[in-house]
Amino acid sequence: MSSEEKLMENFMRKIEAEEKIEPKDWMPKAYRKNLIRQISQHGHSEIIGMQPEGNWLTRAPSLRRKAVLLSKVQDEAGHGLYLYSATETLGISRAELIAALQDGSAKYASIFNYPTQTWADVGAIGWLVDGAAIVNQISLQRTSYGPYARAMVRICKEESFHVRQGYEMMIALAQGSPAQKALAQDALNRFYWPALMMFGPHDSESAHSARSMQWKIKRETNDDLRQKFVDQTVAQIEFLGLQHPDADIKWNEETGHYDGGELDWDEFYSVINGNGHCNRQRIEHHVAAHEEGAWVREAMQAYREKQRNKAHKQAA
Ligand SMILES: [Fe+2]
Ligand SMILES: [Fe+2]
Repeated sequence: MSSEEKLMENFMRKIEAEEKIEPKDWMPKAYRKNLIRQISQHGHSEIIGMQPEGNWLTRAPSLRRKAVLLSKVQDEAGHGLYLYSATETLGISRAELIAALQDGSAKYASIFNYPTQTWADVGAIGWLVDGAAIVNQISLQRTSYGPYARAMVRICKEESFHVRQGYEMMIALAQGSPAQKALAQDALNRFYWPALMMFGPHDSESAHSARSMQWKIKRETNDDLRQKFVDQTVAQIEFLGLQHPDADIKWNEETGHYDGGELDWDEFYSVINGNGHCNRQRIEHHVAAHEEGAWVREAMQAYREKQRNKAHKQAA
């Protein structure tokens, strides 16, 4: 057995035994590459995801709503930072990650390319978008790469607060005036389908699924996770007294799950490929913010150099 084969055998033994793979452990090149893609894509989603909701910060209808939303958006920045740090442990720099986001070679969740047209969208996003994210993230707490799994534990705690703030807002709107209820229904109608698409293509179409499952990067398939979300959302919509956006939703006695209508996959791929409402705007905004922050990075660099020179002089 070659030394490479031995390393591979040891790697697979750890995976089978549910031991975590840590940054300094040997790992197959494709495992590293796959993780860099998945964790950075996740980190970019947290960062770009701040924009649609941040859009409503200055127009929140009360001080309480504004404080809640502000803290939620700040949480998302924190999630992005944990995830970038986890990605950096795989041997890629923050600057490379940001460059890949800005030149379009790295993706982020397509849902954030949809505009937030009304205040109710902020509620629908917390409830449905963070709700779909958490279904996925709970299963990722058991992912095989240690830094990613540990980041997920902390992120999930905060995500559950995000879901509750969104749903609480939807309750307030759904129980409000007829106009408020109509806003809630409209936001539900627009965000329900893109939220289902967050789980990615069907398992049969998913490019990365099989290997990611074998290496336990992913712990449940796209379709299984999506089904969980569909099932839990039915009762929540009922409780709000709103109409389900999927006219075909129906309990299936045999499978013990809800069956629903097929998703519009043309829309899914069109948004992924850059033709969503806000793709260009999101990246332009990110580039502008990054450029505006250049002086902070330069000042940090200058300070670090000054400290280093001081230490050198003292040592001499
Ligand atoms: Fe988040
Ligand atoms: Fe969140």
